[in-house]
Formats: sequence, C-alpha cells, structure tokens
Amino acid sequence: MPENHINNRQLFLQHVAQTSDFPLMIEVEKAEGVWIYGPNNKKYLDLISGIGVSGLGHCHPNVVRAVQQQASSFMHLMVYGEYVYSPQVRLAELLAKHLPKNLNTSYFTNSGTEATEGALKLAKRYTSRTQIIACKNAYHGSTHGALSLMDNENFKQNFRPLLPDIEHITYGSFSDLEKITIQTACVIIETLQGEAGVNIACETYFKLLREKCNQTGCLLIFDEIQVGFGRTGKLWAFEHFDVVPDILLLAKGMGGGMPIGAFISSNEIFSVLKTNPILGHITTFGGNPVCCAAALATLQTIIACKPKSKFIFKQT
Ligand SMILES: Cc1ncc(COP(=O)(O)O)c(C=O)c1O
Repeated sequence: MPENHINNRQLFLQHVAQTSDFPLMIEVEKAEGVWIYGPNNKKYLDLISGIGVSGLGHCHPNVVRAVQQQASSFMHLMVYGEYVYSPQVRLAELLAKHLPKNLNTSYFTNSGTEATEGALKLAKRYTSRTQIIACKNAYHGSTHGALSLMDNENFKQNFRPLLPDIEHITYGSFSDLEKITIQTACVIIETLQGEAGVNIACETYFKLLREKCNQTGCLLIFDEIQVGFGRTGKLWAFEHFDVVPDILLLAKGMGGGMPIGAFISSNEIFSVLKTNPILGHITTFGGNPVCCAAALATLQTIIACKPKSKFIFKQT
C-alpha cells in the first residue's frame, strides 16, 4: 500500500474524532453513482449512500454543475432571511410549488437535527405551550432538543438534563392518541420510521392523528428527513396517506450530497419568530448559496424523472 494511504489511516485514528471503537476505515478516493472507489481502484457498492443522502447517486452531473456554477459566483453571504439571491428563493419557490398550500415557507438549515430544533422552537412559540409528544423508537437527530425526543434511555441518560415535558406515544397506536391534549405544543412523528426499522403506520392512524391535533390546537410535525425526496416512490412520503402536517422537516437527500435541511410551514406560523424576541431563530450557514444551488438541481432532477407531487395540481 502506498505510503500516503498508511499515513491517512494513522492520521484518521489520531486526529479525527470517532464515536465508536469500530470505524469502518474504508478509504475513499472517488465516488460516482452507486460506487465508491478506494486506493488501487478498489470498488465498493455503496449501500449506505452517505446515510440516506445520495438519492441521485454520488456526483450527479446536474448537482456538480450547479455547485461549480454557484461557487464561481458567490459562496457565502449573510444567508438567512436578509439578502435576496436566486438559488435560495428559487429553491423555496420550487418546494412550495410541490407541497400543499400551507407549506409555503422554508427555513433552511445545515442538517436534519437543526430542522428538528427549529421546528420544536416554532411550535412552542406558536402555541405558547411546552409539551412535546414524540414516538417511541423515533430518531430526530443528535443535538440536545432532538435527543430529548428519544425514549431510549441508553442514548439519553448520560447527557441529562435534557428538554423537560416530553411525552412518548407508540407509533401507530390509536389508544395513545388520547395523550395529545390542550397542553401539547406539537406532535413530532416520522411518516415512516426509519432508524426503528421501516415501520409504517396506516392511513387511518395518520388521519386520526391529524384530527386529534386539530381538536387540541397543537401542531403536527412530520419528519421526512430520511424518507423525503422520492425515497418512498412519491415525492413526499405523506402523500401516501393524504394527511398534511403543519411543519415538514427535510434534509439528507435534499442537497444531492451537499449539507442542507429545512423546516417548512406557513407564512402565518413562521411570523411568530419575528417578534418577542426579534430574530427568534437565526443561523450563520443555513441556506448557504452553494447548498441551495445543489438542492435546487437535486429537486429539479427528481421531479423531472418522477415521482411528481400531486400537490402541484392543487396550487393556484
Ligand atoms: C428521521 C430522521 N430525522 C432526523 C435525522 C437527523 O439528521 P442529521 O443527521 O442530518 O442531523 C435523521 C438522521 O438519520 C433521521 O433519520
């Protein structure tokens, strides 16, 4: 093995933080489509796909072109909600065009867990309530708020104190819907549980969940961070059961390999973040122009080869 590869492995172990004692240590020189290539052209079929990210494969030419073009114009500005620039507004417009009418406003983030954090804040601020309901076996990210939503103490116990006032319900359980009350700020749920092992609740469950949220005045948050962007055969997984959330979370496959996520809601719901305090949620990098250009190219490419969202026909 050439010297620099041995060095890379040593440097990886010495200087790159690991969170397990068993890193895969696959050395990568190139990635294209479904393949990863290591030293000496060793070829791997990439079934992890960047943890559910590379829905278009590695280095899709449309995404690469968009990134190169945007990088040669400008890469970073004051990105969130102040300056107006094309890849960001065109991405927000295209998302709105392919989503139900109430999901017309996007707040861009750098990751899935940041989308979760933003959505929790938005729901608490909008409802002036504190209780958050999440599902057992759910995964919504690894930062403090998102981690608080997990029911598995193994992951949480050594990081306490976490967010208070979290209730857990069993995904798909009709009787547990009774736990949603007028104290509840929001219910956050994966439309299809991914980390728990591809659990799918039925349409009736989601309809009753929607009804219960309406009755109690709490917000319904769908986490499509893993299953959005065509991964279930429709553009959005919630199209399978025709129930629309108040807030939608996206990330992973969104950027075609670039880091970007979003929490998406209505203009009216988002308006609460403008006052008391002003700048109720801010970010330095979320909505970065290069990432937005990549996400725009990704969404355009997915839409062009189907699945098409049926919501586009509902837009006026
Ligand atoms: C359903 C779901 N939500 C949220 C996240 C967190 O996303 P990120 O790792 O980008 O923070 C993940 C990541 O695996 C996920 O699968």
